[in-house]
Amino acid sequence: MNDTFFLKGNICHTPVKDRLDVHEGAYLLCEDGRCGGIFDAPPPALRAVPVLDYGDCLILPGMVDLHIHASQFAYRGTGMDEQLLEWLQKYTFPEESRYADPAYAERAYRIFADAMDKSATTRAAVFGTIHRDATLCLMDFLEGTGIISYVGKVNMDRDAPPALTEKDADSSAFDTFGFVNAAHKRGYRRTMPILTPRFIPTCSDELLSALSEVRRAYDLPVQSHLSENPEEVMLIKLLMPEAAFYGDGYDRFGLFGGDARTIMAHCVYSSAEEIARIRERGVWIAHCPASNMNLASGIAPIRKYVDGGLRVGLGSDVAGGQTESMFRAMTDAIQVSKLYWRYHDHSARPLSFSESFYLATKGGGSFFGQVGSFEEGFEFDAVVLDDSLAPHPQPLTLQDRVERAVYLGLDRGGIREKFIRGVKRGLDAGTS
Ligand code: GUN
Ligand code: FE
Repeated sequence: MNDTFFLKGNICHTPVKDRLDVHEGAYLLCEDGRCGGIFDAPPPALRAVPVLDYGDCLILPGMVDLHIHASQFAYRGTGMDEQLLEWLQKYTFPEESRYADPAYAERAYRIFADAMDKSATTRAAVFGTIHRDATLCLMDFLEGTGIISYVGKVNMDRDAPPALTEKDADSSAFDTFGFVNAAHKRGYRRTMPILTPRFIPTCSDELLSALSEVRRAYDLPVQSHLSENPEEVMLIKLLMPEAAFYGDGYDRFGLFGGDARTIMAHCVYSSAEEIARIRERGVWIAHCPASNMNLASGIAPIRKYVDGGLRVGLGSDVAGGQTESMFRAMTDAIQVSKLYWRYHDHSARPLSFSESFYLATKGGGSFFGQVGSFEEGFEFDAVVLDDSLAPHPQPLTLQDRVERAVYLGLDRGGIREKFIRGVKRGLDAGTS
């Protein structure tokens, strides 16, 4: 495929969070995998550039899922009767134990990758399990989808069933070295390793310390969980009494932003001190509204994070969340913010549609660089969406069409094509 081309259609994105910017029947230039501008008509100097005409379709930035567990995809939509710590023991750990079997990993990860391929997601930060070979298998499948992702072999050395507890800190760190080396050797172009200590309850101080060495050696980014559930937060005080607060427990080991580019999922119960540290260290918060509801964790104070200028994206958190759909994550984020406003805090204005769209694209995208918007110089990740499968008796504004497509979940069945860093992934409408 040509490196330089135009997409023609209805181009919609959020360069700033307060407004969905729309360009009807416009031309979006892709040059060597980056956005080259939006034009009403091809400029004379670019007349020879090929045009891919998508008619009346919507052209949106690809969605960024900042937190998803590939290894939990198989049980999504079930086991919703427990809170976090019990849920992990009852459903998550037994399922993740299965990934010791390479044949199971291959079967399950093929299904996961296929669903991601059909989704509107173009970038993702993904958890595997403690198993090195299974996680490499996951990376092979994700590489095949064209999605650009960070994938983590999970580390845990305590408080899990024996089959899911690594022998000790050294062997867990050693295995992680092996995982990162193997991933580098496979020469992926789109799939990168990320350090993934599960959370402090399953990671001893020795393990966090050993992992900080691995991180430094390879300059790895980090992903984990933070202040998701009240019992979990209390547990941290028992397990690591010297930590001033939960996030400090990671920070003491150099696993909390700064040089270590870090995503922390949830942050429902972050104290003022913790929020200040998140800001200081430039940690990305992955807001996972569906998971917050399903595990009855609570509602993250997203207005405070957004208005406070923190780095925030959205995560599906499958299988805490039941679906990989980032359209669903967007609507969930808006809806829970309304309940938060109603029940908790009348000064916390609910998220607007454009703010939620921003979080799902440019907000989370910033973890990957210049990603999640069609501004010049941004990487060219685009989703072509055909909303004609939900016909309407009146002409609608483009803003209304985008909002409606997201609320109606037209990412199922409505995706005509996906471009990632300027490379086209052919998807037939209606195959999902
Ligand atoms: N905290 C530690 N592990 C997990 C997990 O797998 N899912 C969620 N939602 N929270 C966690
Ligand atoms: Fe999670």
